[in-house]
Amino acid sequence: MKAAKYTRYGPPEVVSVVETDKLQPGPNEVLIKIHATTVNRTDCGFRSAEYFVSRFWSGLFRPHTTVLGNEFAGEIAAVGEEVTLFHIGDRVFGYDDSRFGGHAEYKVVAENSTLSLIPDCVAYHEAAPITEGAHYALANIRAAKVKAGQQVLVNGATGAIGSAAVQLLRYFGAYVTAVCATPHVDLVKHLGADVVVDYLATDFTRTNQKFDFIFDAVGKSSFRQCKPLLEKNGIYVSTELGKNGENVPLAILTPIFGGRKVIFPIPGFNTEDIQLLGKLVTEGHFKPVIDRRYSLNQIVDAYRYVETGQKIGNVVIDVVT
Ligand SMILES: NC(=O)c1ccc[n+]([C@@H]2O[C@H](COP(=O)([O-])OP(=O)(O)OC[C@H]3O[C@@H](n4cnc5c(N)ncnc54)[C@H](OP(=O)(O)O)[C@@H]3O)[C@@H](O)[C@H]2O)c1
Repeated sequence: MKAAKYTRYGPPEVVSVVETDKLQPGPNEVLIKIHATTVNRTDCGFRSAEYFVSRFWSGLFRPHTTVLGNEFAGEIAAVGEEVTLFHIGDRVFGYDDSRFGGHAEYKVVAENSTLSLIPDCVAYHEAAPITEGAHYALANIRAAKVKAGQQVLVNGATGAIGSAAVQLLRYFGAYVTAVCATPHVDLVKHLGADVVVDYLATDFTRTNQKFDFIFDAVGKSSFRQCKPLLEKNGIYVSTELGKNGENVPLAILTPIFGGRKVIFPIPGFNTEDIQLLGKLVTEGHFKPVIDRRYSLNQIVDAYRYVETGQKIGNVVIDVVT
């Protein structure tokens, strides 16, 4: 089978599409013929090991997992003898950030992992990007305990995480102010934002409005900048560590003093969560934004584009073209 492999950390060019041995499912596993996957910021982080700390998970000197791709959509091609939940031919989408392996023609996963049936009327390329951005968004929204009617600001509303956050926050009944660049104002309104701030025209931190929760989905702001915008017990979260990694100590210290605080939750994701996302897609509450599509052979170009930091939503790889 074809797989996009890398055996050393580095720029996009360390990845190449090669022939590898076809996989066999274990007793409790399913073999998935991948139709579509994504290149996302997690893949970029693991491939480049730009943050040295990531090597404690991915391998100190060289990557343990040589085929990346943590979200995928495809068709069950074979099942282990003890599998009961899925059948050959089922259309499934899933998320696997421990074994990765989506950047290939086939992948095995445990049947009880974060895997779910693709809702009817959703194509493979639309199902592949359901999980990564949305699970980060969901984890942060839950950690902030957002309630209906609360005022929430999302900075970076056009990223994979931000565009999912706007839609999920609307679903949970929050009043959403979203920040993006001029060309994307209409898109972000369409995602459901109540107010859109064009960051090229207005500095969002210079408002008198107060928010219960500020979610910086691109990590371009700081707690110090956003603190004056927070309600008395308001919460700030960023998808990045911040300057000198400040968001981690702030998440430890600010809750001790009470009042406005930083949180830095470790995202979790389970079978119920992926089923919830599938249900929200079916009901029309959530639709992942797709920017560009590439073939597996063009994966290096896809990495280059994702690393511009300017992708809008998600970049899909069509493994079956
Ligand atoms: N390390 C990891 O494993 C990991 C995993 C997932 C995500 N993350 C982090 O999470 C963040 C978001 O990732 P993502 O995949 O959702 O999105 P992304 O690929 O980082 O997309 C960034 C989006 O934000 C917008 N943007 C850029 N500069 C901005 C600014 N100053 N203010 C507001 N918007 C701005 C860009 O569009 P416009 O500029 O055109 O508006 C683009 O749409 C990234 O910082 C990423 O590193 C890290």
